[in-house]
Amino acid sequence: MASPSPPASSRKPYEERKELDGPSESENWKPETEQEDSTHGLSRNRIICTAVCLIALLVTGAFVRSLFVEPPATTHPNLLFHGDNVRSNGTHDFKRTVLIVSIDGLRADYLDRGLTPHLLDISKQGLRAKAMVPVFPTLTFPNHWALMTGLYAESHGVVGNNFWDPISQSEFHYNQIESAWNPAWWLGEPMWETAVKSGIITANLMWPGPPKTTSGFSSTYFVPWKNKVPLKEKLDQLLQWIDLPFEERPQLLMAYEPSLDQAGHKAGPYSALVNKTLTQVDIFAKDLHTALKERNLTEIVDVVFVSDHGMTDTSHPEHIYMDDILGEGYASIEHEDGWPAMGLRFSANANVSHNLELLRTAAAASEGKFEVYTHETMPERYHFSGVERIAPIYVVPKIGYILTTHAEGDVGINKGNHGYDNTEPAMHAMFVAHGPFSAVVKVLHQGPSGSLTRLARRLLSRPNKGWHSTSNDTYVMDKFENVQIYSLVMRLLGVDKVAPTNGSSAFWDKYF
Ligand SMILES: *[C@@H]1O[C@H](CO)[C@@H](O)[C@H](O)[C@H]1NC(C)=O
Ligand SMILES: *[C@@H]1O[C@H](CO)[C@@H](O)[C@H](O)[C@H]1NC(C)=O
Ligand SMILES: *[C@@H]1O[C@H](CO)[C@@H](O)[C@H](O)[C@H]1NC(C)=O
Ligand SMILES: *[C@@H]1O[C@H](CO)[C@@H](O)[C@H](O)[C@H]1NC(C)=O
Ligand SMILES: *[C@@H]1O[C@H](CO)[C@@H](O)[C@H](O)[C@H]1NC(C)=O
Ligand SMILES: *[C@@H]1O[C@H](CO)[C@@H](O)[C@H](O)[C@H]1NC(C)=O
Ligand SMILES: [Zn+2]
Repeated sequence: MASPSPPASSRKPYEERKELDGPSESENWKPETEQEDSTHGLSRNRIICTAVCLIALLVTGAFVRSLFVEPPATTHPNLLFHGDNVRSNGTHDFKRTVLIVSIDGLRADYLDRGLTPHLLDISKQGLRAKAMVPVFPTLTFPNHWALMTGLYAESHGVVGNNFWDPISQSEFHYNQIESAWNPAWWLGEPMWETAVKSGIITANLMWPGPPKTTSGFSSTYFVPWKNKVPLKEKLDQLLQWIDLPFEERPQLLMAYEPSLDQAGHKAGPYSALVNKTLTQVDIFAKDLHTALKERNLTEIVDVVFVSDHGMTDTSHPEHIYMDDILGEGYASIEHEDGWPAMGLRFSANANVSHNLELLRTAAAASEGKFEVYTHETMPERYHFSGVERIAPIYVVPKIGYILTTHAEGDVGINKGNHGYDNTEPAMHAMFVAHGPFSAVVKVLHQGPSGSLTRLARRLLSRPNKGWHSTSNDTYVMDKFENVQIYSLVMRLLGVDKVAPTNGSSAFWDKYF
């Protein structure tokens, strides 16, 4: 759906605008841990050392806890509002409700354009992150499924928008329903399945993914993908669900909007079209927020706005010709997965090691324009190896470059694209949240006699840090991986029986 297909190429042009990036994550909690490690290294007696370290760990743990858990004062009423608890909005009873909205292709720094006053206002009342880091590859389907399951692509199975599976001898095509809706592609447990298993009513408005998992679970309400559905209709559908009687009302709602991604591909991230579409999704956010306020639901419904990935300008790319590199070998490629990175499977009678050698030599000579990986050499941080669905050879271009052939040239080239290295700021997604959850964070963060000790508050509060154009009262989280979202939603809903993920519930401890 969202991402225009890969037929021929993408491109990427000039230097990505330098992004404002915050200080690195190193400031977090690392110091204590590092100290422990060095103690270990110095010790002569392993056993004693281990014991010492263990005690140190326990003490440190208790210390860290004591920063946050100041006995009696900790209970913000919102912390107790989950599970089967009910809160009235004045006239109607509600269970705690989570609405997660994905705006495809909303690159993190779009929020700094001065074109999204409402999203910023919502984040000011709630919180935002500097950025949310997508999983590799930074494509729509792998990332929407990572958001749903909390898993990296190698674990959730959707390793591209299109890819070959040698086990089933079939191809995943995101835009062909008979292929994309086959539950067998979608591994892991999406949050709607976990919620339904816990007896929670769920509603799915076009979130990329299947209507049903292999274990046979569906969301309670499901509106399948359709292109060009006006935002107003989506808003109406969400409100219609929220206004249902108590027994029928969903507690977890998911919604998807592709127009900004489509604009980014078509016209590029710096285009008037992107700016205009950004304004429209911002108004959608405002309308949603206003509708919740009118219903007195802002202390009942947590709204989480996310995106799947960013967007880079690809209007003037430098071409890398695969046919030049591989010569005759190019013809023996049997399957080409993904885009703009390229997973290669050569035919059975091809000299694979020879082709790999050619690719590696060319990559080395290119001085960083592109990289060639096998499962063994894939960067660890991609969490993208070790399963059959990932092609044995992956060619990954750097932003600014596109892989193509002389025959394909510029065919199918868009002005914007994504799918590059997930550490590239231009690939980063956004996270903005508002509701009872963020109210707690704010109290923790700002409250004069809040539940935190002064030191904890100082550690938590790093407002702005000079990196951002937001005003003082915005609480800005450091950037974090999108595989954490599953755990957040489960905690908000008070669901304890969760699936294993690559995030961790503990990640959110300091916010609860
Ligand atoms: C709005 O909802 C809160 C609970 O979140 C409730 O305490 C308050 O009375 C409600 N206000 C009105 C005007 O109904
Ligand atoms: C879109 O907005 C950005 C940031 O405000 C601006 O730099 C850019 O020129 C705008 N693009 C167009 C075509 O107006
Ligand atoms: C509470 O929510 C219901 C259902 O959405 C709505 O009809 C009602 O007006 C709300 N009550 C208040 C006091 O806003
Ligand atoms: C494959 O190519 C390598 C050179 O890279 C060569 O040494 C080897 O003999 C070739 N193998 C076959 C079966 O042709
Ligand atoms: C931040 O707060 C300071 C002092 O309270 C004020 O002078 C400054 O204008 C504020 N900055 C923004 C961006 O609101
Ligand atoms: C991600 O989580 C899955 C499910 O628990 C696990 O099998 C996999 O090893 C994890 N991956 C990493 C890199 O930890
Ligand atoms: Zn896209």
